[in-house]
Amino acid sequence: MNSISAILQKFETDLAACSKVADVLNLKAQVLGKQGALSEILKGMKDATPEERKTLGAEANTAKGKMEALVSEKINTLEAQEINATLLKSKIDFSLRESVMEKGLTAAGLHPVTIVQREIEDIFLSMGFEVLDGPHIEDDWHNFEALNIPATHPARDMQDTFWFQDKKHLLRTHTSTIQVRGMKTRKPPFRFVGPGKVFRCERTDASHEMCFHQLEGMMVGEDVSVGNLIYFMKTLLSEIFKKDVEVRLRPGFFPFVEPGFELDIKCLICGGKGCSVCKHVGWVELLPCGMVHPNVLKAGGIDPDKYNGFAFGLGLDRLVMMRYGIDDIRLIHGADLRFNSQFKTF
Ligand code: PHE
Repeated sequence: MNSISAILQKFETDLAACSKVADVLNLKAQVLGKQGALSEILKGMKDATPEERKTLGAEANTAKGKMEALVSEKINTLEAQEINATLLKSKIDFSLRESVMEKGLTAAGLHPVTIVQREIEDIFLSMGFEVLDGPHIEDDWHNFEALNIPATHPARDMQDTFWFQDKKHLLRTHTSTIQVRGMKTRKPPFRFVGPGKVFRCERTDASHEMCFHQLEGMMVGEDVSVGNLIYFMKTLLSEIFKKDVEVRLRPGFFPFVEPGFELDIKCLICGGKGCSVCKHVGWVELLPCGMVHPNVLKAGGIDPDKYNGFAFGLGLDRLVMMRYGIDDIRLIHGADLRFNSQFKTF
């Protein structure tokens, strides 16, 4: 018994001196392992009387349990110390520009799409519009049915769709889904925009991507006219390009608007004379829009005999590319820091 308490005492002193997990494990093996000091005592028990064996056995087991508990406690403490030391070493105060720079990191900036999107949101907020959001994963009804595109409608082929295996859900092909969600949750008159990513199963090239950005807009009230639509679009474009722009409407087909238009702006590069940017026609196609189809209002729970409205779907990537002179849309999602870091805003 004496030797057991001596072993325990020595074990405690040795353990306290350990500063690494590996040392603790070594010590444990030395004392508790097969060839360990405690095992040696238990082996010697064969010469003891049955009485002695009983007390010695119990004492040895208690000591063993105590040492095992001490070992795991010590390991926990050492591991926590190690983690804290690592954290302390790699600590960066992100609120301190200098400390970020010291570590060789470059300051972050906003993505060009975010910059332009926020700017446009601000323009619309100042004109009394709300900014709404909607999910990327949609169902057939929000993306097609409610927008006057029934299952058999050939217009479904206009947008190559990523369907989920259940054939009921899809990645939204346009932000017009936000029109539906917006109508369902408010009463006219209302006006809102809804920016976001949209997805189409397209072959990619310099001007096509599978994921791109749109900004939907909708205004519904009692006497909304094409004149209102043109006014808001002209104001928006003049604000974006920081100069007066000339616009024109051409007929365009979208099942959810009637009449539907393609809104063009006079080419800002050549002023309408004709250049490579406008493909020598003097006008650049920028904004599909139109007066909301009565079926769409109905699907949104709005009485088309009482209310009407306009809607538009602005392609954000095209605007970003025109603004910054980017000639390949694939750069936008390329996650290349050499590209992204050119748009720092601070
Ligand atoms: N949702 C259409 C598209 O993605 C654009 C659009 C929106 C057209 C609103 C008219 C009105 O092609």
